[in-house]
Amino acid sequence: MDTREDCLAADACDPLAPCRERFSLPEGVIYLDGNSLGPLPRATPALLNRAVKEEWGRDLIGSWNKHGWISLPETLGDRLGALIGAGPRQVIVTDSTSVNLYKLLHAALTLRPQRRIVLSEEGNFPTDLYIAQGLENAELRLSSRAGLPAAIDESIAVVMLTQVDYRTGALWDMKSITKAAHDAGALILWDLSHSAGALPVDLDGCDVDFAVGCGYKYLNGGPGAPAFLYIAKRLQESVRTPLSGWMGHAAPFDFGTAYAPAPGIRRMLCGTPSVLALRALEAGLASFAGIDMAAIRRKSLALSDLFMTLAEQRLPGDAFEIVTPREERRRGSQVSIRHGGAYAFMQALIEDGVIGDFRSPDLMRFGFAPLYTRFVDVWDAVERMAAIAEDERWRQKRYHRRQAVT
Ligand SMILES: Cc1ncc(COP(=O)(O)O)c(C=O)c1O
Repeated sequence: MDTREDCLAADACDPLAPCRERFSLPEGVIYLDGNSLGPLPRATPALLNRAVKEEWGRDLIGSWNKHGWISLPETLGDRLGALIGAGPRQVIVTDSTSVNLYKLLHAALTLRPQRRIVLSEEGNFPTDLYIAQGLENAELRLSSRAGLPAAIDESIAVVMLTQVDYRTGALWDMKSITKAAHDAGALILWDLSHSAGALPVDLDGCDVDFAVGCGYKYLNGGPGAPAFLYIAKRLQESVRTPLSGWMGHAAPFDFGTAYAPAPGIRRMLCGTPSVLALRALEAGLASFAGIDMAAIRRKSLALSDLFMTLAEQRLPGDAFEIVTPREERRRGSQVSIRHGGAYAFMQALIEDGVIGDFRSPDLMRFGFAPLYTRFVDVWDAVERMAAIAEDERWRQKRYHRRQAVT
């Protein structure tokens, strides 16, 4: 696409273009941060309003049964599972990604009692590494990205990786890494925070053991939305959770003294489900209704390819370095650009109506969510970046003041 008109023409024949109507996006804003916080689906306010007024307000405690509150973690888990290649009853929506990592790492270690090493890569998301560091009787071993496949050996209990790197957008080959883990007798745990809703994932087809992920990024579940976890059916009956709360009990309303795990995935619940947050996530998942993940992937690659091509053409190469792999099979749905003044540059860009984010020390991240991002947005975003590079407005002092969230 060589002109803005080409981009408008691509939008006009894009089969996903009508999906943009499913979101309530502020006028005049180009939102390229759905990899951090998905925007508000149009259906969310009405669904929440109903949950508050009719379910909570009118039907009160009866709603646990009448409106299926008690089974929301499983019903939404099955809906989410359909987006990540998981057959029914293998995904449950609950807690945060961090807490779910803890539960699953602990479970994996108890399934490999002769081993105590969790293998991950140096660049993995900090919470994944911190949770592994907090485990008792386990040791976190870190490898470089390039050295990781060779670091999988018979001492490893569980390999823990994030499928799409939060900094660079680099994508692991799930199938081959999972197989390498299994060949060494290890288990695998994938963090799908930057994959779920962004690209096709085939957990069952890749024979994955465990997975976790966020609800608030590409799944549009709202700030702090509940997370999810996956356990392959073949492992569920042998898995034990370290957080053996009453909601994961076989019969919570018998109020017995002794803990007995619920059959299947439900044993991974701990406390009372966060119903309003689950309803918001339900609306987020509904934004994928009728959409094939392959179509999402096709458009995501086209958008990110256009962005990289235009950035290379319009931004001075000595100051801006694209760190995301160019090869399609090696990248997720975001593009990251290294720049010496990345934080300030992003602040100037946000002020100009293009929202991405910054990751320390020098990366600007741009997420491409095909349900609402247009080709013309990509064109306009790069135009505005080129203008800021040209007039050097990002050097102004006010853009350098760091806020709590970057
Ligand atoms: C790869 C990855 N894992 C986990 C998290 C966050 O986990 P939590 O929802 O527990 O804050 C993020 C947040 O950006 C992430 O990128």
